[in-house]
Amino acid sequence: MALSEIGKERRESTHRPKEGSLRPFYKCIMSLWILIHSIIDCIIDVFCSFFYDDSKRTQIPGVKESFLMESAVSLAERIRHKEVSAEEVVQGFINRIHEVNSLINSVVDERFEAALQEARDVDAFLASTKLTAEELKLQKPFLGVPFTTKDSTAVQGMRQTLGLVSRQNVKAAEDADVVILLKKAGGILIAVTNIPEYNLWCESRNNVYGQTLNPYNTTRTVGGSSGGEASIIATSGSPMGIGTDIGGSIRMPAFYCGIFGHKPTTGLISTKGLSKRTGQEENTMVTAGPLCRYAQDLLPFLQVMVGNNISKLKLNAEVSLKDIQFFYMEKSGDLRSSSVCEEMRLALRRAVSHFQDISKSPVQKVKFSDMRYSFKLWRYWMTREPFDLAKELADGKGTVSVWKELLRKLLGQSDFTFASIMNLVNRYVLPQENSEWAESTTERLLSEILEKLGDNGVLLYPSHPFPAVYHYSSLLRPYNFGYWAVFNVLKLPVTQVPMGLNKDGLPLGIQVVAAPYNDHLCIAVARELQKAFGGWGPPFPV
Ligand SMILES: *[C@@H]1O[C@H](CO)[C@@H](O)[C@H](O)[C@H]1NC(C)=O
Ligand SMILES: *[C@@H]1O[C@H](CO)[C@@H](O)[C@H](O)[C@H]1NC(C)=O
Repeated sequence: MALSEIGKERRESTHRPKEGSLRPFYKCIMSLWILIHSIIDCIIDVFCSFFYDDSKRTQIPGVKESFLMESAVSLAERIRHKEVSAEEVVQGFINRIHEVNSLINSVVDERFEAALQEARDVDAFLASTKLTAEELKLQKPFLGVPFTTKDSTAVQGMRQTLGLVSRQNVKAAEDADVVILLKKAGGILIAVTNIPEYNLWCESRNNVYGQTLNPYNTTRTVGGSSGGEASIIATSGSPMGIGTDIGGSIRMPAFYCGIFGHKPTTGLISTKGLSKRTGQEENTMVTAGPLCRYAQDLLPFLQVMVGNNISKLKLNAEVSLKDIQFFYMEKSGDLRSSSVCEEMRLALRRAVSHFQDISKSPVQKVKFSDMRYSFKLWRYWMTREPFDLAKELADGKGTVSVWKELLRKLLGQSDFTFASIMNLVNRYVLPQENSEWAESTTERLLSEILEKLGDNGVLLYPSHPFPAVYHYSSLLRPYNFGYWAVFNVLKLPVTQVPMGLNKDGLPLGIQVVAAPYNDHLCIAVARELQKAFGGWGPPFPV
């Protein structure tokens, strides 16, 4: 029996509509819960708005060099043609980091001197090489272009603290595989950026470097875990950065900071050097992926990151948008997460109606009812990841004890963030998900989605219930990131696309999802949305 048929059969047997007189009762209770939940959300936000105030903060200044506003591919093009030197470009981004970093706290370690030397070497090479610009583009597509990566991704000689106090002086011995690939493509690493403790929270805050602030409004979070990356890129302190995503860690910060982020089909990019991974672990949900301000950077950047696995993708295939079958879903249906707010729903609808005009076939609204288990499924699959949180937090020196650490935290004696303590309680104290249920539900949801998407379908999905939230408020709403995490469970490729700013000046956005290995469809749709709705809108005057 084909996978899709198995899915269908299960669906029929387990999703029989509730019959009889109880149905209106359930509906009523559910509506009441959604109402209460919305009221609680409202109270949290009103409370935070009294508490947080950034009216006296310094506005992020405009850029001094116009090339700081260019895409990575355009910078590469101009460096190749010697219209601007690599040294000027690298120096420009370094100056920009000096200008903005005290306002947002994104960059946590740097190698500015070494990067400038590498840039001068690139300029000397360009002055003497016999290669044509076309040949250079093929061999070294990002020659001379600066880039950044997160603290947790190994870069030889740079700090790799993972946000743990016990590792505050640890430096990586060698480059992660993705860093090697980007350097081979000509990229020049300038700095590494902030993350949550052990990458496991939806805010980039730790006890080594503190908290990263959102450039659109410093009272809001940048998300996590690639939060330092997304915020420094959004403020034009870096043209491109390597993110990693195990539960939304590329897409969430990209969304909160109004830039593009792509979580590739899982399993194509080497994980060696991503936190403490050796690259040999099997079946992980994590994947590295690109973060950038411009949709046109996504494809060449991804092309570099997948290395030899490029043949598994169809990155150079011509995509005809009118032949794509579009689907959309307006909410996950997970009753633990907040309701998708009006402006986020409108952002999705704007994309839907845009493709309604372009696509030959009508855009279809769909409902995958198992999406309501997004959080539970992710929670289960996290227990199958090849690491033991209590050991990892102790950094190889024994095991962190949940209760002892909780007590220490309450007494103000803990080295760990509250988020890590919550993660420990969630992992070792609360009841775990039923594995049989979780695995069969995952399989059913995946086969339902694949059946719909086929080889030419794209799903438009909300990024999150609302735009960038206040610092710490995620601790009160820990389920909302299920909107991102479900696609780690399903290992599907997803592009996070900015869709303009709301009335408070915070970025809106949507997720664009496709079947495995159809990353090129997500990216083609992202490019079209950028053309139609403007893409990244800078958090500073231009
Ligand atoms: C940031 O948000 C706060 C609280 O909502 C608001 O008072 C402030 O005006 C916002 N700042 C900017 C620069 O928009
Ligand atoms: C290709 O993918 C495999 C897993 O599917 C991975 O182990 C390998 O490192 C990847 N190769 C490169 C060059 O990234």
